[in-house]
Amino acid sequence: MAKKRIGILTSGGDCAGLNAAIRAVARRAIDGYDWEVVGIKNGTLGLISSPIDAEVLDTRAFDGTLLRQGGTFLGTTNKGDPFAYPMKDGSVKDRSMEFVEGFRSLNLEGLIGIGGDGSMKILNKLCELGDIPFIGIPKTIDNDVAFTEFTIGFTTAVNVAVDALDRLQPTAASHHRIMVLEVMGRDAGHIALHAGIAGGADVILIPEIPYDMEKVAEKIHQIYQEEKRTHALIVCSEAIKTSDGQLVMRPNEDGKMTYGGVGHIVGEQISQHTGADTRVTVLGHVQRGGTPAMRDRVIASAFGVRAVDLMAQGKTNRMVAWQHREVVDVALEDVITRYNNIDVTGTMMQTARGLGICMGD
Ligand code: F6P
Repeated sequence: MAKKRIGILTSGGDCAGLNAAIRAVARRAIDGYDWEVVGIKNGTLGLISSPIDAEVLDTRAFDGTLLRQGGTFLGTTNKGDPFAYPMKDGSVKDRSMEFVEGFRSLNLEGLIGIGGDGSMKILNKLCELGDIPFIGIPKTIDNDVAFTEFTIGFTTAVNVAVDALDRLQPTAASHHRIMVLEVMGRDAGHIALHAGIAGGADVILIPEIPYDMEKVAEKIHQIYQEEKRTHALIVCSEAIKTSDGQLVMRPNEDGKMTYGGVGHIVGEQISQHTGADTRVTVLGHVQRGGTPAMRDRVIASAFGVRAVDLMAQGKTNRMVAWQHREVVDVALEDVITRYNNIDVTGTMMQTARGLGICMGD
């Protein structure tokens, strides 16, 4: 009898820990169930390209480096929505049936997709269209996928931002400067809030709380006058709105808008309001790379194993999630209708306020 074959792909922006998740899926499926696992290249693109871009995975080729490597050896894309595929001539084409046909041509009986909230929506729609049994594994440095406390990649990204603050603090202190660190995270302030708390920030600006520059300036004056400290650290999320309600975005090569640069506006405003010597660091994509942190490796491994077990039980159209120290599974249709941004009354916010960190309000 032919072995059961499942496919696996990574979709959306990369992050640290994806390789650990692919490794776990392959190990569980091949060693645990004697299935074949087909690695689909570059997210959904692998199934709509001609010839199809996919390879059978062999755990004997996994020499132990995968756990330690950032990125995804399968490749990924955040441009390949097959329902609205951008063609070379500038038009947009629905190529969703090509995805389904590509899946069928590989004789696959199920798909495991590692992605963020956007990818989960697209993959769910594609799998509904093709009646494809699907399990999602949540990943993104933004940690904004609903129903999971952690997504793969978040912890590593926060560690990178904390490391940046550790490096900025001594130079800020030596030069009596205000250092602004802009971090990623899209519309959720999780990276900024976690990194700011762990890295000793004086001010944290997040998209969930509109900021008032007068309040930020007050905090800086208080640091100067009461603490007699001549430097400060400010963390801001890339998606905060400026005082006049604008998001700082620019179109990338395919016309999609990307955040980046609001830190410079915050820096200028601080300098104007306080007269302080201010410098700005926009951390950018360094948050996506690097050696995966322990927690990302652990949750990626746990997610991968559970995803395959769910597939074996026929419990599909689910997403694995981390809740209360456990891997659980949740209905995909619930995940895709919710967004996980910061609970402004939650523990992390209470912690920040309790530490006297100015949240801009
Ligand atoms: O969603 C992950 C993320 O890194 C966001 O934090 C950021 O806004 C975006 O992706 C950057 O996208 P790109 O890699 O397309 O520039």
